[in-house]
Amino acid sequence: MTDKTLIELNGDGTQLILEVGELAEILHWGKKVETCNASSRIAVKRPVPYGRLDDDIPMSLSPELGRGLFSSPAVEGHRDGLDWAPVFSINKVVRQENALTMVSVDAQAGLELVTELELDRYDVVKVRHCLKNNKAGVYQVNRLANTLMLPERAKELMTFYGRWVHEFQTVRQPLLQGGFQQENRRGRTSHEHYPAMIAGTPHFGEMSGEVWGFHFAWSGNHRMRIDVKADGRRYAQAEVIYLPGEISLAEGESITTPWLYASYSHDGLNGMSQQFHDHVRHHILPQEFTAKPRPIHLNTWEGIYFDHDPDYIKSMATQAAEMGVERFIIDDGWFKGRDGDRAALGDWYLDERKYPQGLEPIVDHVNALGMEFGLWFEPEMINKDSDLYRRHPEWLLAVDGYQQPTGRNQYVIDLQNQQAFDYLFERLDHFLSKYNIAYIKWDMNREVVQPGHLGRAAGHAQVVRYYQLVDKVRQKHPQVEIESCAAGGGRIDFEVLKRTHRFWASDNNDALERQSIQRGMSYFFPPEVMGSHIGASHCHSTRRRHGIEFRGLTALFGHMGIELDPVKETQEEKQGFERYIELHKALRPLLHSGKSWRLETDDDAHQITAVIARDQSQAVVQIAQLAMPTNSLSGYLRVPGLDPKACYRVMVLDKPNLFDDIVNYQPLWMECGCEITGEWCEQVGLSMPILDAESAVLIKFERVT
Ligand code: DGJ
Repeated sequence: MTDKTLIELNGDGTQLILEVGELAEILHWGKKVETCNASSRIAVKRPVPYGRLDDDIPMSLSPELGRGLFSSPAVEGHRDGLDWAPVFSINKVVRQENALTMVSVDAQAGLELVTELELDRYDVVKVRHCLKNNKAGVYQVNRLANTLMLPERAKELMTFYGRWVHEFQTVRQPLLQGGFQQENRRGRTSHEHYPAMIAGTPHFGEMSGEVWGFHFAWSGNHRMRIDVKADGRRYAQAEVIYLPGEISLAEGESITTPWLYASYSHDGLNGMSQQFHDHVRHHILPQEFTAKPRPIHLNTWEGIYFDHDPDYIKSMATQAAEMGVERFIIDDGWFKGRDGDRAALGDWYLDERKYPQGLEPIVDHVNALGMEFGLWFEPEMINKDSDLYRRHPEWLLAVDGYQQPTGRNQYVIDLQNQQAFDYLFERLDHFLSKYNIAYIKWDMNREVVQPGHLGRAAGHAQVVRYYQLVDKVRQKHPQVEIESCAAGGGRIDFEVLKRTHRFWASDNNDALERQSIQRGMSYFFPPEVMGSHIGASHCHSTRRRHGIEFRGLTALFGHMGIELDPVKETQEEKQGFERYIELHKALRPLLHSGKSWRLETDDDAHQITAVIARDQSQAVVQIAQLAMPTNSLSGYLRVPGLDPKACYRVMVLDKPNLFDDIVNYQPLWMECGCEITGEWCEQVGLSMPILDAESAVLIKFERVT
């Protein structure tokens, strides 16, 4: 293909214009342009300065060193030292609606590269490559990266960092020469390096600025970068970090990258998030369950930990059902020998000492109370103190001759070992077939060190086998829903979400901490996939104390649950749980389908979240007071996204118990309500209440005309 063609891909509001010839270059990725014609190419043709190569070198979807593009190449590899700088030429382009498949070859190197690029109607782009070895001799792949170009005006970055019980924290920095790079080598998506980043025009915010958000859908090691080239052009890149020697392609073999997802918005971060949320709802989440309201959970973990007594658990279930819980989950501690976190992982047999009558009586009890039953597993893990390890020490994901550090006293099972894989499937299948289990909490509590299969590196293959194990379980038990958990939020990404239904966002149930964790997670994920539980008033992970209102309202804006021992709770607390459960049930159709907004505030001590119905008939707004208000008055609450011409009744749905204690009076609208237009809500707003630090209020807007 020598002629260059312009190809437009259109979303509802954004557009990709590519010039496709020997290679594919993005000419425009932004707001829709209706008037693109052949002259448009002349308009954007670059000059060639002195001191560089004599020709203009386009920045393609697969940068190549061999073409003189001094960027991070898309393909790095060799055939025993040869064919190490391939130059691909596109020889076939297939277009299907808004998806392109481009086949490129380097006949000399014996390689074929297939690039898939799609822009969906929700304005989310996805791109991936497949590299095939077409020649005799093994092709060793060192790197295979997905690349998207960015305009020069993307000058600022927002990235994510975190740790256990402190996931999804964000940090801003200028995007300068040298760019930005993040590497994750922890073997799971990780708490530390969540695979996403956002670039934007200077000072981009929640409501303004142009932003380009990127999410790499892979649950293992990755590298992501945004590079600023010496000539000012910039690009984003994402790849799996292949361990040495792990991807060797024999003739005819191929390797496909995970998808890199990206979205452009000219309405700031909210616009970008809303696009990703729509994409997740329509194209990522398993569709069988989307119409079903998400059941309220009670999870036993922080209530009883490893201390399991069936009669007591039944009384927990009875109380849970009385409070309105709809799904009861037995967490860690139910299987043979699991009395603490030092032993038994791998022995997926019911502990008959703890459950002499089996699990049936509990499952039946839970079902008779009208609740679904769920069970915790951590399939990929093994303790050395387990019957499984004593029988199969060779099943460790490790390299012989080295002593591996443990994480939570445990090791990882080599999922490429077919016997081990089959054993795990058989055990999961056994429980799912024998009992009426509607839900699995699938945990993964350690990082992966030196992943070895038969001595060779196996980081990539281990993740692929994990996906295959989940897929096999789902295929046999399609009615079972799965939560992805990895010591809280250590395995949260789009690829795992294609086969699971929600995430355990964090082991931190402290409402204050959860506010920032859930906000960070909301950039790419809608509220319904965020597992969010009301924990005990004295938080186990931070020792902070919060009243039920702050805990309740914080858990309300996710997929809600309770995580404590209801039997031990006071009557007052229980009434609180009931209240928030009822509120969540009433609001979840809105919360789990509406448009989410992170609102800008007049005082950083607040965090305000709104969810607005698709038909703009109603909205809920949560004002969370994170710290002491900076000033004695807190400015105005402005809510965008309502119908400007419609009139809304504004009412308080929930407020702290001691709301009026330290004020002469709160804003008048909070006492007597008011009716204002959507335009007023957005442009002028409502006077903010005076709130104590670590408290929240919930406000509802209902269209009256
Ligand atoms: C870590 C999870 O994040 C917790 O919720 C709990 O399931 C424990 N593992 C159980 O070991």
